[in-house]
Amino acid sequence: MKDLVNGLKSSINRRSFIKKGLTVAGAATVGAGMLASGSPTFAKGREEGSGKLTKGDAAILRFAAAAEIIETDFWVQYNELGGIQDNEVPGGSGNPAYTAALKVLDGDMDQYIHDNTEDEFTHQNFINAYLASKGADTVDLSPFVTLPGSTATGTSGKPRLTNLMQLTVDTSWWTRYRSRNKNPDLDPNFKFPPAIPGLLAGQFPAIPRNDNDLTPAAHLQAIANTAAFHFPTIEQGGTSLYPSLALRVTDVEVLRILLSIGPTETAHFQTWHDKAGNAPPLTDPTNGLTFPDLNSPPFGGQNFQTNLIMPEPCAFLSRKLPVCSIIRPTKTEGIAMGVVQFLTAMGLFIGQSPQFFAVLFDLAEDADAARREGKR
Ligand SMILES: [Fe+2]
Ligand SMILES: [Fe+2]
Repeated sequence: MKDLVNGLKSSINRRSFIKKGLTVAGAATVGAGMLASGSPTFAKGREEGSGKLTKGDAAILRFAAAAEIIETDFWVQYNELGGIQDNEVPGGSGNPAYTAALKVLDGDMDQYIHDNTEDEFTHQNFINAYLASKGADTVDLSPFVTLPGSTATGTSGKPRLTNLMQLTVDTSWWTRYRSRNKNPDLDPNFKFPPAIPGLLAGQFPAIPRNDNDLTPAAHLQAIANTAAFHFPTIEQGGTSLYPSLALRVTDVEVLRILLSIGPTETAHFQTWHDKAGNAPPLTDPTNGLTFPDLNSPPFGGQNFQTNLIMPEPCAFLSRKLPVCSIIRPTKTEGIAMGVVQFLTAMGLFIGQSPQFFAVLFDLAEDADAARREGKR
C-alpha cells in the first residue's frame, strides 16, 4: 500500500492537474480559473491533455479517478476509526467503542471496512497511473483536502476532502433493487421510498465527531447504523456509475478498465446491503433519528424484507421484453453530473470551497460530453 501511495504521489507530481477553479460556484463554463500553481487566471482554462487516448476516454477516466479519490478519502476516515489500521491501510489507531458498535451488525465489519478502503486506494491509483501511462493529464484533488475531520479517539487528525459528519443518506436504492416492476431508467419520475426515511430528514454523523459522541450507547449505535447505510448507498452509486460510463468509451482497453473495476463496486454494494439489514432498530435519544424494524409492519414484505439482497428482476430496455435481474440505473446520459449531485446532496462536501465544486463540475461536464467513437 505504501508503494501504491508513493506511486500515486509521483504520478501526480509529474502532471499536476487543477484547472478552471472558479470563484463563483455554478459558473463552470465562464472560465475564470485557478491553475496548478494556485495562481488565478481569468482566461479560459487550458483543456486537459488526452495523450494517446481519445478526448472522451480520457475525460471519462478522469471523472472515475476523481470519484475514486473522493471514495478513498472517506473510506480512510471510516478505517481510521472503525476498520483495521495496518501496513495495507495505514492511518489512525481505531476507536474501540465505534468499532464495537459497527460489529453489532457483523463481527467482520472492521475487516470489510479495511478491504473496501484498500480497494478504493488501488482504484484511484490505477486509473491515474493509466492516464499518465498514456500521456494524459491525471487528477489531483489534494489542494481541497482542507476540511477538519473527527477529533474522536483513534483519528489521525488529518485534514479531509469529504465530510462524514453531516450526512443526509438517501436509502431509496433499498426499494429500487427490490421493485419487480419499476426501473429508474424506464420510470424516471417514480419515487422509490427510502428504507430509512429519517436519514433523509436531517444531517447525521456517520463517524463519532469527537469523544462526546461515544455516549449514550444508543447514540453511538445510531452513528454506526448511519455508516452501515451510507456504505451501500455509496457503493450502489459506483455500481451504476461504471456501466453508465462504459457505454460511452471508445477504446477496448479503457472499456476493460471500467468493466473490471465496476463489478468490484458491486461486490462492495452487495456486502454492505447485507450488513445494513442487520442494523438494530432504535431511536437516537439525542436527535430522534429512528432506524425502524424493516421486517415488521409498516415495513416488511417484498419492498423492505432485509434478506432480499439480490436484485429482483425488473423491466429492462423495454417492457415488451421479459423482466431481468440487472444493475439499475445504467442510463448513460448525464451520469457524471448526476453522481456529483448525488454526492453533494448527501452532504459529503459540506464545507468545501467553490473552487472544489468548479473542478468537479468541469470533470463531470467533460465526462458527460464524451461520446463513443468509431471502432478502434
Ligand atoms: Fe472504487
Ligand atoms: Fe467503492
